[in-house]
Formats: sequence, C-alpha cells, structure tokens
Amino acid sequence: MKHVAVVIGGGQTLGEFLCQGIVDAGYHVAVADLNVDNAHKVAAEINQKHGMGTAYGFGVDSTDEKSVVQLAHDVERSLKRVDLVVYSAGIARSAPITDFKLSDFKLSVDVNLTGYFLCAKEFAKLMVKQKIAGRIIQINSKSGKVGSKHNSGYSAAKFGGVGLTQSLALDLADNGITVNSLMLGNLLKSPMFQSLLPQYAKKLGVAESEVEQIYIDKVPLKRGCEYQDVLNVLLFYASDKASYCTGQSINITGGQVMF
Ligand SMILES: NC(=O)c1ccc[n+]([C@@H]2O[C@H](COP(=O)([O-])OP(=O)(O)OC[C@H]3O[C@@H](n4cnc5c(N)ncnc54)[C@H](O)[C@@H]3O)[C@@H](O)[C@H]2O)c1
Repeated sequence: MKHVAVVIGGGQTLGEFLCQGIVDAGYHVAVADLNVDNAHKVAAEINQKHGMGTAYGFGVDSTDEKSVVQLAHDVERSLKRVDLVVYSAGIARSAPITDFKLSDFKLSVDVNLTGYFLCAKEFAKLMVKQKIAGRIIQINSKSGKVGSKHNSGYSAAKFGGVGLTQSLALDLADNGITVNSLMLGNLLKSPMFQSLLPQYAKKLGVAESEVEQIYIDKVPLKRGCEYQDVLNVLLFYASDKASYCTGQSINITGGQVMF
C-alpha cells in the first residue's frame, strides 16, 4: 500500500512544490488549503501526471478545530491512512511594533502556531489509532530561531512552533512518531517574501529593487533558499533514514543561522 502524506497549505508556492515532490517520491497526497480551488487544482495536476487517485484536494481552515477534525476524517475516508503530515500553512504580516495591529499578531499566531497544533493533534490521533510510526514536519523559518525586525507576530509564532515541535516529539516518541521543524531561509521569489518588499525597503531605507540583493548578501552561501532545498531535507526527515531524529529544528539557511 502506498504511503500517504497530507500537506496543509499545499495549494500554492512552497506547499504546492512539496506536494509534487512528495508524489514523485512515491506517496499519495492529500492537498489541503484554505483556498479550496487551489487545493483541487494542485490535486488535479498531480492526478493528470500520475493517475487518478494519487492526489485529493481538500478545503480546510487550519485555525478552526471543527474544520481540521473534518479534514482528518475526510483524509482517512479517501486515502485510508496517514504516514506524513507537513504543516506548511503560514502567514506573514510586517510592521514596526508601535504600529503592529493586535489583529495581525493574533492572525500570525493562529495560522503559524495554532493551526500546526490542531493539525498535529488530529493526524497524530489517526497515526496512533492505525499504529503507524509516522512523521510530522512543520515548515518553520529562521525567524523561529532569531528575532525578526518588524515581524513580531510571525517570529513569536514561529518560535512557539519550536517549543511545540519538541513537546510533540516527547508526547509521540512512545508511538515511534517523529516530529521535526524545518527552519528556512528567505524564499526570495515567493509571493510571501515579495509581498514584504515595500515594508523591507522602508525598514532598510533603500529602493525596493535593492532589497533582494541585501538579503542575498546576508547568506554565507550567497543565495536565497529554494523550494528544492526544502524538499531535499524534508524527504530525508520523512524517510526511515531519519528514524533516530526527533524534536529537531533543522536550519536550511545557507549558513545564515548556525545553532
Ligand atoms: N516565503 C518565504 O520567504 C518563507 C521563508 C521562511 C519560511 N516560510 C514558511 O514557509 C511556509 C510556506 O510559505 P509560502 O511562501 O509558500 O507561503 P504562501 O502564502 O505562498 O502559502 C501559504 C499557503 O497557506 C495557506 N493558508 C493560509 N492560511 C491558512 C489556513 N488558516 N488554513 C489552511 N491553509 C492556509 C494559503 O492559502 C497558502 O496556500 C510558511 O509556513 C512560511 O512561514 C516562508
């Protein structure tokens, strides 16, 4: 029987790329996203390439408990099992602390942290019930290890994700389920990074066109993080080869963060 992965936030950008890469690696995949049309589109594209039944698209609001419980139920009904959970849903809002809206802070915590908690909880229940020594992998950020100027909500939520990952790893170790976070550098071409260019230009006092190079210059290996860098590391931590690794926060930052 094929192994099954669920990617929450799989409807676009990094999540979409990971869905395709995970299928190429031999899994069936549940593509789950707040944007249900995108989830279905990604699933349809995968099925066109790999055959019907390889992927299923689902709408979910990861911040809403009922919606996540429903997702876990629907995934079990359609795909029968879950071996790998990837929590890629995220949101970034940027402003200096003196202007940072409470609603944006709460939204950052809801999507980046509470959603991870709810998805890990519901899919861990499924793994435990099915006696599957599965994998839970959170897509985090270097902002989960070092503070990030004008990104207080995002950074606070991503730091929280590290504590949650370590705690989940302890809770689930007896079941052979491993839990790890991937701490990414900036995905410079992503809509999320590009959407922050105006604020970053303001913060740095430079033109928007200069921002990307400034971020590249911060990286010892002198390039931004690529989706493929993330997929490479994710497939390792999803594999049996990483069965002795849990509770880790793994840097994928080109050397920008080293602890
Ligand atoms: N873009 C970067 O530079 C960067 C850097 C480091 C880490 N990351 C992390 O990588 C992950 C993916 O980032 P991205 O650039 O692909 O972002 P993105 O905004 O392009 O994609 C995020 C996806 O999450 C979905 N989503 C948002 N709220 C949701 C919710 N409540 N329920 C379900 N789905 C929801 C969105 O619809 C979207 O499809 C995020 O966790 C982000 O924090 C991104």
